Amino acid sequence: MKISKIKGFADLYGAESDRFTFMENQARKIFAACGFTELRTPILEQTELFKRSIGEETDVVNKEMYSLTTEKGRSYSLRPEATAGVMRAYIENSLYSKNQICRLFTTGPMFRHERPQKGRLRQFHQINCECLGSESPLADADMITMLMRYLHTLGLENIRLEINSLGCSACRPHFRQALQDFLAALDADCLCEDCQRRRSVNPLRVLDCKREACKTVIENAPRISDYLCADCKRHFSMVMDLLEQQQVSAIVNPKLVRGLDYYCRTTFEVVSGEIGAQSAIAGGGRYDGLISALGGPDIPGIGFACGMERLALLLPDMQPVSPDFYLLIMEEKDFSKGFRLLQSLRAQGLKGEMNYTCQSFKSLLRQADKSQAAFCLIIGTEESLNNSVTLKSMRDGNQQSIQINDIVFYLCEKCLKSNR
Ligand code: HAM
Repeated sequence: MKISKIKGFADLYGAESDRFTFMENQARKIFAACGFTELRTPILEQTELFKRSIGEETDVVNKEMYSLTTEKGRSYSLRPEATAGVMRAYIENSLYSKNQICRLFTTGPMFRHERPQKGRLRQFHQINCECLGSESPLADADMITMLMRYLHTLGLENIRLEINSLGCSACRPHFRQALQDFLAALDADCLCEDCQRRRSVNPLRVLDCKREACKTVIENAPRISDYLCADCKRHFSMVMDLLEQQQVSAIVNPKLVRGLDYYCRTTFEVVSGEIGAQSAIAGGGRYDGLISALGGPDIPGIGFACGMERLALLLPDMQPVSPDFYLLIMEEKDFSKGFRLLQSLRAQGLKGEMNYTCQSFKSLLRQADKSQAAFCLIIGTEESLNNSVTLKSMRDGNQQSIQINDIVFYLCEKCLKSNR
């Protein structure tokens, strides 16, 4: 019986894989220029880490984690996001003792047991950035500006940045209480089943419920902006001013609360109208109490993650780089000579392959054509005798004979100097 992949998990190959490589390469280039270094954390962590950071009452921890219990009764979970693991690694390796500000970049697969649909998988990939060590609004604006620059270099134009402030531990409880009072006064059947539960355990999440009935009732709900303390107001207004200075347009969305519990002050999402219901291509925010809540020093932080599958939906097909040559060997006895030539060509940076088995000339030429190589290098009976190679241009069909000792130099001149 054939074994198939698990629902919500995907194989990435061909053009899709090229898009992922492109996204990662661009990210590394842009983020390195802003002082980020790469951190690779384990995919499996103690379940407790996610409970304490993301929050026990969030959907991610409550319903969506892939967890296992060992024979010794320990619970481990596949990471549903990167931030928690990055914080653990930052604390455990005392990365805070190296620089006052630490900027960390992570990429890789994340796992959430959600209902799969377009743009929503159970194994998906994030590009994640965290800036630790500053509570200045400059850090918020710097991160958001970098994110938008990254998305624009990917060629994404029709995207919208939404932003909000969730206040801090001083002012948010007042807002939470006001919201809870508002929700408690509603008839239970005005809200969906999830929100009926959320209104007591996690009332802020009711604000971003996607169900029409809930959206209508919360139109008149209290707004966080009316409850921000003076410090939070000042922080938010400075972030907005700095973004404006950089011509990064941001739309304030007072209902943007995000699905993870660690956020405070600035939160943001980038959305696209072109990829269906799962429209958030990136999201993030500030989390000033998270590191200390996980047993580390009291260090503030801000970060974001982009969903690579969703970004990929918006990217055009990549133009693959065509090979420079296809080395076509007609006779078994010339394979060793051909192999030497193949390695010499590649050592000079030329891209190409050779045939490993003897086949008809017609079939090998078809393979050379399929490979889209610029040139076919042919070693047949005659070439073998006089130590030459026939160089056939696959663009115009022109052929010429070149001595085997000269071919590497000749092809470098043709391909490397003209194309690169
Ligand atoms: P998040 O909003 O849960 O934030 O995820 C960030 C992005 O990951 C989303 O905007 C979306 O593009 C993508 N994503 C999430 N779930 C799925 C899924 N099931 N399938 C495909 N893509 C998905 C976080 O994860 C935070 N850790 C971001 C952050 C970093 N905040 C501070 N630092």
